[in-house]
Amino acid sequence: MSPPLDLVAAGRIYCDLVFAGLDAPPAPGREVYAGSLTIAGGGGAFITAAYAAALGLAAGLAGILPAPPFDAAVRGEAAALGIRSHCAPAPAGSDPQITAAIVTGGDRAFVTRRPGAALAEPLALPPARHLHVGELATLLDHPRLLALARAAGMTVSLDCSWDGAAFARPGVAEAIAAVDLFLPNEGEAARLLALGIALEPRVATVVKRGPAGARALPRGAPAVEVAAAPAAAVDPTGAGDAFNAGLIAAWLDGAPVAAALALGVACGAVAVARPGGATALPCLAHLRPPAARTALP
Ligand SMILES: Nc1ncnc2c1ncn2[C@@H]1O[C@H](COP(=O)(O)OP(=O)(O)OP(=O)(O)O)[C@@H](O)[C@H]1O
Ligand SMILES: [Mg+2]
Repeated sequence: MSPPLDLVAAGRIYCDLVFAGLDAPPAPGREVYAGSLTIAGGGGAFITAAYAAALGLAAGLAGILPAPPFDAAVRGEAAALGIRSHCAPAPAGSDPQITAAIVTGGDRAFVTRRPGAALAEPLALPPARHLHVGELATLLDHPRLLALARAAGMTVSLDCSWDGAAFARPGVAEAIAAVDLFLPNEGEAARLLALGIALEPRVATVVKRGPAGARALPRGAPAVEVAAAPAAAVDPTGAGDAFNAGLIAAWLDGAPVAAALALGVACGAVAVARPGGATALPCLAHLRPPAARTALP
């Protein structure tokens, strides 16, 4: 049996098809040609697992792979990034879970197919210190995930990910209250608060604020803010998920809140300065304090 993971990330796993360098803006009734096409693993769980592995954590991924032939690309990239896959194959006959991203005029247009369930049932998690759930909707769809993680002694973090339909479902406040760290961005936090949903997890809510940095709201303690790390931003894809990995890595190392935020924004800055999600992500262990690095097995 392989040794326990530091972190397992669970959530929807996508294959991202990113078309860039278009010879004209896309328009109905007209064919345009892309100068490049990148095929990459995507979804919050995949990108957080990739950054955690790059930081030197033993990181695993739990979810359902996109249906063939796209599963091979995602599995291969996960292996290259040092992510241990604990993923299930897509059910026979399901559409591949894919996002087509079209980079146009400095922005991106997306089309996503999100078939079936987020996670395979019956649920299973590999032994790990910590469970990170990539999106609120996944936890609402698979509430037993929490009991499973707690029974195995894991701490739990939860990204929000914008999903208007999920925000309106019953049980959102209870799901947030049951995790240790809740990690929305500013828009998501504002929307939940506007719906009257309390953001009161066991340990802290950490709000990601794009180029403005991040703010931690620890339970029973004053808020802590940190500025973003300077970055020559080229593509915001995955910044929030990269931030999650840095924050969680430092938190698992026992770092104080300000130091955890600092590693979060350092990873966010890496993410915005490179195109795409986690494609060819280099080693990021130098971002962690030497003591934390040697503390790992
Ligand atoms: N332009 C930027 N310059 C430097 N750092 C940035 C920039 N944009 C984002 N970041 C860093 O990345 C972190 C996460 O980004 P953001 O707030 O956009 O998360 P998000 O909206 O959840 O992103 P995602 O699109 O991945 O869901 C920020 O808290 C910040 O530290
Ligand atoms: Mg996000």
